[in-house]
This record gives sequence, structure tokens and C-alpha cells, in this order.
Amino acid sequence: MTNVKFPTDFLWGVSSSAFQIEGASTEDGKGLSTVDTRKVKEGIADTAIASDHYHHWKEDISLLAEMGVKTYRFSISWTRIFPSGEGEVNQKGLQFYDNLIDELLAYNIEPLVTMYHFDLPQNLVDKYQGWLSRETIDCYEKYAEVLFTHYGDRVKNWISINEELMVMYSQDFNGIRNLDEKQYKKAVFQMMYHMSLAEKKAFKLCHELVTDGKIGPANAFQNIYPATSDPLDVEAAMNAEEFLSYMLLDLSVKGKFPENTLRYLQKENLAPETLPEDEEILKNNKPDYICFNYYASLCAEVYTGLADDHMPPFFRSNMYRIVPNQTKSLSEWMVFGIDPVGMRISMRKLYNRYELPLMITENGYADSEELSDTFEINDEKRIGYLQLHLLECSKAIDEGIPLLGYSAWSFLDSLSGREGFSKRYGLVYVNRTDDDTKDLKRYKKKSFYWYQNAIKQNEFIVDEGKKNYDNK
Ligand code: BG6
Repeated sequence: MTNVKFPTDFLWGVSSSAFQIEGASTEDGKGLSTVDTRKVKEGIADTAIASDHYHHWKEDISLLAEMGVKTYRFSISWTRIFPSGEGEVNQKGLQFYDNLIDELLAYNIEPLVTMYHFDLPQNLVDKYQGWLSRETIDCYEKYAEVLFTHYGDRVKNWISINEELMVMYSQDFNGIRNLDEKQYKKAVFQMMYHMSLAEKKAFKLCHELVTDGKIGPANAFQNIYPATSDPLDVEAAMNAEEFLSYMLLDLSVKGKFPENTLRYLQKENLAPETLPEDEEILKNNKPDYICFNYYASLCAEVYTGLADDHMPPFFRSNMYRIVPNQTKSLSEWMVFGIDPVGMRISMRKLYNRYELPLMITENGYADSEELSDTFEINDEKRIGYLQLHLLECSKAIDEGIPLLGYSAWSFLDSLSGREGFSKRYGLVYVNRTDDDTKDLKRYKKKSFYWYQNAIKQNEFIVDEGKKNYDNK
């Protein structure tokens, strides 16, 4: 048995994102974004109602207060503030987040605000081709200015963009559907470069407008091990990590590409177009911390031309081949290998490379769940997952990593990528399914009570040998 302790100022939290919980996708003047217009699979819930947080926000915040979290990470929907992504501000949209923020502060919960979590205004795609054009950078900058000016007196912790890696590859998020395969392959890196420029502008504005504020990116960190000790697999893993994580983070922190990656992009004719004046904005504006989302580790092996089209697009490459981590347990929804130690390894890699404070902004266990007859959810596996990952947080802090906090994904059951409500991560159950919105009532899962107690004690006891989510 290990007693796992945390510093007194550790930021215990939970996370959510606007389009995954709010619903009300066209209410009170909200405009459509790419996640509203994307095609969802037949039988899977869309953003119209989601977890109906827009109408349950007061009750939801009282649940957060009951849970005892010190911080709550949520995202602001760009199209509630600017329905077209540009132009006139929607006062009702501003008001919604005013209410939310004030209520959080009344409970002493520190807001941690993601400015943009996958939901790009559809109008910016229709009018400018979204992140393919520099106009979208200007629109994001204007949006950032409104957020900092309006909420900066109360919100001190900001996240510029959630998971650029997903946005640049996913047409559901970036909205770019009119290019052929070759053009799209190149467009991915142009979108990435423009997002990196946009977030640098947000860092600059945040530091100017919220003088006691802090800001950083939220990276989908891919911790990749070589599949074997064959040096070619080792090199493949290095390539994959550079390509999937360090390329974006080096741009965020150092304002430049890793040399190896840049040369690869140039060789493959994929390098983005840049302007000389970008240099100054990229070099001079640094984040205050790095937020990262971590669910699992991966392995890479040398690329031999074997097909990898069963993998999500961002894992397909001719530099490496991504494979699941077979030494770790896999489950129905956790398909790459659950690896708590890998989260500490990730922190070490990130801190060694960037020497910035870290925040874990997503980490959680996905499962298919149904309410019992007594309205309970006995999510022991989720508790096991959280315990073992938090244990690694505590060890990382002991090893000298400045880890500011941990926000579990997710607060409520919410719309999951392509799987809607058939896959759930919440500590709070939302009573609906994909095809039946039922009464949308909230039920605290067993993990809610476990987390509440851990936060209250600022410590918990774990049996390291007992991994109750698996058998490895
Ligand atoms: C992260 C996203 O990529 O992973 C979240 O920031 C997402 O928005 C989470 O919900 C889990 O992914 P999925 O597809 O299982 O919901």
C-alpha cells in the first residue's frame, strides 16, 4: 500500500469542452462551427443537445463544488462570442460565460479556460478556407482580444488551442473538404503553421491585457517507445515523437521547427509557406506553462511500407509505423495500451526539453456504461486508472517536476469524438443515450466520490499491485 500525497497548492481539477457538453448549438445567437456541421455517424448523438450543460450549468457547477475541485477546465465556444467567427460580438454568448465564471469564483473554483477546442466557426471555413488562410489568424486574434479584455479580470489561467495535432489532421475539426489527397497532405502543415502563429499572437495579447495572467498550449502528447531495441525502431520512435509532439511544442515554446522534422517536410514538399515577419512573433512570445493531454502510450517500428490505414490519419507516416503498446493492457475503448508510468516519463521528457511548469489537462478512462436499477455506476476501473496516474503525478513532483495540477477527463459524460455517448469518460453520469435524450439527469458515479475524498484529504492510499482496470 502506498500513501500518495500532494503539495497543498496542487490544482485538482476536471475538464470539459464546449461542443461536447453544452448543446444549445443554435440558441441565443450562437453560430455554427465545424463540429456542428460535420457528419456524425448514423445513430450517434450530435452537438444539438449533447449533455445539455447550457441549461444545467448552475446545477453542474454545484456538482463541481461538491466534488471539491480547485480548478475547472472548460472551453469557450468561439461561435457563441462571434457567431460568424468575426464581426459583431454576441452579448448573450458573453453573458453565458460571465455567469459560469462568476458562479465558479463564488465557489472558489479557479477557471482554466480553453479558448478554442476543435470548434472552428464554419463561416471562416466557407469564407476564408479556415486555418489555410491568414484571415483566420486575424479573426482568432480579435476573438482572443475580446476574451482577455472581457474575462481577464477574473480568468487568470488560459489555454490557447486544444490539440493542434487533431485539428490539423481532422476534416471534422478543420472543415477542409475540397482538396484532393495530395493537396490536403500539404494543407495539414499550412494549417498547423497558421495555428502556431495564431497562438503566439494570443500569448502576446494575454501578457499585455491580463498582466497577472498565464497562458499555454494544450498538447496531445504522444509518448512513443521503440517497439524493440533494434536501432531502426528506436529511430522510428524518435521520428514519431518529434513529428507528433515536439514539432508543435517546439513551435509553441521555441518558435521554430525541430531541424530534422523541417528537413523532412522540405524534402517531401510539405513545408508551409512562411513570411519573414513571422519570425519576430514566433521567437518572442513564450507560453508560461505546457498543458498536456495523456491517455496512453504507443510504440513505433521502422517503416517497411506495411499498410497502416486502420490507424487514425495523424499516425500514418512513411517515417515510422505506430503500433499499440502490447506490454500494456488494452480495453474496448483504450486501444493503445494503458500506461500510467508513461505519463511520468512524458512529464520528464517535456520538462527536460522545455523547462516550463506542466499541467495535465486531460487524462481519463473510457468505458461503456449503463445506470443500474438503483441509479448507480460502479466504475471501479476508472478509479483504478485515476489512482495509478495520480500516483505517477505524485512521483513526478517528488522527482522535481513542477507539475501544477491535474484535470481528469471528463467532468460529465459528454459527446465523445465519433462515438457519442456509447463511450463515456465522466465522473458524473448523464442520463441519455445516443438515440434517446431521456431526462438528462446527473448521477454521481463511484469515481466522483473517490475523487472527492482524494481532493479533500489531498492524498489517497493505493495498492500499486492491484490494477483493477486490467490484468497486466
Ligand atoms: C482529446 C480531446 O483528444 O481526447 C477531447 O481533447 C476528447 O475533446 C478526448 O474527448 C477523448 O477522445 P475521444 O475521441 O475518445 O472522445
